[in-house]
Amino acid sequence: MDESKLQLEYAKKTADLIRGRGLKYHSVVFGCQMNEKDSEKLCGVLEVCGYEKADSEEEADLIIYNTCTVRENADKRLFGRLGVAKQYKSEKKDMLICVCGCMMQEETVIEKIKRSYPYVDIIFGTFNIYKFAELLYTRLTGGGPVIDIWKESSEIVEDLPAKRKYSFKSGVNIMYGCDNFCSYCIVPYVRGRERSRKPEEITEEIKRLVQDGVVEVMLLGQNVNSYGKGLEGDPKFHELLYDVSQIEGLKRIRFMTSHPKDLSDELIEVIRENDNIARHIHLPLQSGSDRILKLMNRKYDRARYLDLALKIRDRIPDISITTDIITGFPTEEDEDVDDTIDVIERVRFDGAFTFEYSKRTGTLAASMEGQVSPEKVKANFDRVLSRVQEISKEQAKRFEKRTMEVLIEGVNEKDPSMYTGRISQNNVVHFRKNAQHIGEFAKVMLDECKGFYYNGITGD
Ligand code: 5AD
Ligand code: SF4
Repeated sequence: MDESKLQLEYAKKTADLIRGRGLKYHSVVFGCQMNEKDSEKLCGVLEVCGYEKADSEEEADLIIYNTCTVRENADKRLFGRLGVAKQYKSEKKDMLICVCGCMMQEETVIEKIKRSYPYVDIIFGTFNIYKFAELLYTRLTGGGPVIDIWKESSEIVEDLPAKRKYSFKSGVNIMYGCDNFCSYCIVPYVRGRERSRKPEEITEEIKRLVQDGVVEVMLLGQNVNSYGKGLEGDPKFHELLYDVSQIEGLKRIRFMTSHPKDLSDELIEVIRENDNIARHIHLPLQSGSDRILKLMNRKYDRARYLDLALKIRDRIPDISITTDIITGFPTEEDEDVDDTIDVIERVRFDGAFTFEYSKRTGTLAASMEGQVSPEKVKANFDRVLSRVQEISKEQAKRFEKRTMEVLIEGVNEKDPSMYTGRISQNNVVHFRKNAQHIGEFAKVMLDECKGFYYNGITGD
């Protein structure tokens, strides 16, 4: 039997087991869009298993935490939440606590959970997410906790039911893992080697999503530009993106994340020529200093990054370019930060996530000499952040007073008489509710730029 069918069998057996008890689940996600997507699959499986969605952890009979370990504070947040969950469990003895995801791929974390959080019921990693129904059934029919961590897997199991957070947009995995081994990054260790899905499987999935009402997809991979390695026919990312852009009814396509070292000219052309591909590229810089880039093993230098970013701006003038920057990497000096700020000023990023370097055990950078003191990391961070914020505010001004297509994503959280949506460039727009509905596109005049968002006006 194929794996997804087997898992559905387990889900049905679980549903038989818990029928009539009115059990509820709550899902908590830390980290990136990949984790968001994985959790949608976990929730889908839980619903087939007969659990209903609870509004809070407190109300739930089962909590599933999907974890992130890219920086240390993500780890701390999980342990805090597990402490609180213990309280709920003490009041509800049949409650199940499950943890999965990137953090679970680290042996020290598993040891710590076994030692200090023995009330956790199910632990699994990143490679066997699709086994959740089986693990849950095993826990419900067996005695003690279930721990199942795999070191690596080349298998890709899709076709499990997913409970999408939004009816009108969805992430779509195009590849898993990462082969780049940037020296600071733990992802290649916890997510394994690159594995790409076949192009026809991806386009079929997207066609099904479109039939189901999805108008925007986000193609997901740690490094989408190296998509296709090892697949028959050697498909390239720009070919996949083109094929996806031709799917009828699909209004907007996003993708994430691009590594600058292999973003091709062909890709820039495909974006330029197809309006339904979002005018937004997330292009992590990490540092603008050649010396630091080399130590980071990023495989490009500042000149190459600048060339690429300016070429993209030249070919697609309306595009927004956002980035990730790490400050306080081992041996970082003031001059290196100057170089980073220089690149920020030349590229004029429309947005940037700035991170303080976090030492991750097992990575090359963790054992480098010249670790920077926390005070210095913070000072470098503040310098970069303030420049990035000034520039992205100025950048956002360029769309002020323009009328743009906004995908209405929801009702404004602070003011229920307003809608909130996004333009193709990914900036947020708030505007007064009109006859249109969530999940539809509205033409909105971006009346006033408020820095990171706009207040807009719509005619209908
Ligand atoms: N410390 C700080 N930031 C990191 N990132 C990845 N690893 C680390 C680390 N050890 C950042 C990078 C990456 C983003 C997803 O997280 O900027 O692009
Ligand atoms: Fe980490 Fe680098 Fe891979 Fe991104 S490309 S996931 S930063 S190793």
